[in-house]
Amino acid sequence: MLTFPPDFLWGAATAAFQIEGATTVDGRGPSIWDTFAGTPGKVLAGDTGDPACDHYHRYQSDVDLMKSLGLASYRFSVAWPRIQPSGSGQVEERGLAFYDRLVDSLLEKDIQPLATLYHWDLPQVLEDFGGWRNRDTAYRFAEYAAIVHERLGDRVQAWTTLNEPWVSAFLGYGNGIHAPGVTDAVASLEAAHHLLLAHGLATQALRAQAPDTHRLSIVLNFSTIWGDSDSEASKEAVRKVDGLQNRILLDPILGKGYPLDVLQDTSWLGDWTNVVRDGDMETIATPIDWIGVNYYNPTRVAPADPGFVPAGPHAGLRGVALQPPQGELTGFGWEQNADAFTELLVRLSRDVDGIPLVVTENGSAFPDVVDASGHVHDVARTKYLVDHVRAVHRAISEGADIRGYLAWSLLDNFEWAAGYSQRFGIVHVDFETQRRTVKESAATLSRIIGQNGLPA
Ligand code: NOJ
Repeated sequence: MLTFPPDFLWGAATAAFQIEGATTVDGRGPSIWDTFAGTPGKVLAGDTGDPACDHYHRYQSDVDLMKSLGLASYRFSVAWPRIQPSGSGQVEERGLAFYDRLVDSLLEKDIQPLATLYHWDLPQVLEDFGGWRNRDTAYRFAEYAAIVHERLGDRVQAWTTLNEPWVSAFLGYGNGIHAPGVTDAVASLEAAHHLLLAHGLATQALRAQAPDTHRLSIVLNFSTIWGDSDSEASKEAVRKVDGLQNRILLDPILGKGYPLDVLQDTSWLGDWTNVVRDGDMETIATPIDWIGVNYYNPTRVAPADPGFVPAGPHAGLRGVALQPPQGELTGFGWEQNADAFTELLVRLSRDVDGIPLVVTENGSAFPDVVDASGHVHDVARTKYLVDHVRAVHRAISEGADIRGYLAWSLLDNFEWAAGYSQRFGIVHVDFETQRRTVKESAATLSRIIGQNGLPA
């Protein structure tokens, strides 16, 4: 058996916009994802956030389901537009009341809640004023964070400010494949800075009103960057992509400042550093108690002609070419590579100077079907899960300080620009009938949790 530490936290994760539905209920205001999904051509098949998993109305039975799977923790996000429909000022009591009910039913079942304050659903009104390009949004976020924390802080101990701010900045404002769909490289770097500032300000606001028992964090997406050879040029390509993909947000949070060694390569894009004001870097480096790691796949890169500009969020880096994935792919076309996960966790644990890590997301999408006997034999997802849980165990035995593993996702849900076409759930959702069917992967996770480990 590979046994995990006694208090290792097992669970599953979701996000508000991806599962709740009920987007016009109880005073909720529109978010940038409502606008984006409502714009033809932005989301596959014109899918929107309604009805998603209708979790807003079905949260109680979903919590019962979590209990039946033996989950010890559940990571969810709070929808800012439910709490402040106009992004600031007026607070919507019915929105707060929903998360009250959710938290209470989790606690009733002994499931530890992990609350994320921002998982990409910015109130549209704030975007109308520039969204994350506007410094003011950071201050509005800190106010909102304090409101939610004030309400739920008597019951929720584990808090995350932002989920994957890299994606918000570079997919939202860089290549525009996420809401709000802006395509402006300088704007994406400005947005990244304001997101980090928002994290720092919110952390300070929460700390000021939080008892010592509260554990504050940020959740970042990371990838292991692998080059195509051992050549110096290839190592240099790896260093640059690692800088723009992993270190760009982590380094400032750790108080190391922006990785300017890499960012100087982006100077040809235009100057974004004028958004950095005195004191910002200190605010961003406000101490936190843990860091959430979202990992799915490695990134393969190779050196390219110095004039070559890569597409998408790496546009800031000249002379680097992204390479196709290798080996087994998921249904979404993502490389399945558990060794890359171990390597990443060991490296991060070294880099973060003693801050504990929690795997806040890990999972895979495949086109599942419910068979005639009512079962979902998601063999490939189950293998991905087992391989990656083993990878976490390996990282721990190599000295990484990892405190938990949360599968992405509890339910099949709205996979952003891919709409409902990609199923990441360990529980199948029939979006017509809202019927939930436990997949083999969920049964496997359930067994792993029950044994606090798995066969070697
Ligand atoms: C990370 C995001 O946090 C989550 O919302 C998304 O569904 C998964 N990755 C899969 O793409």
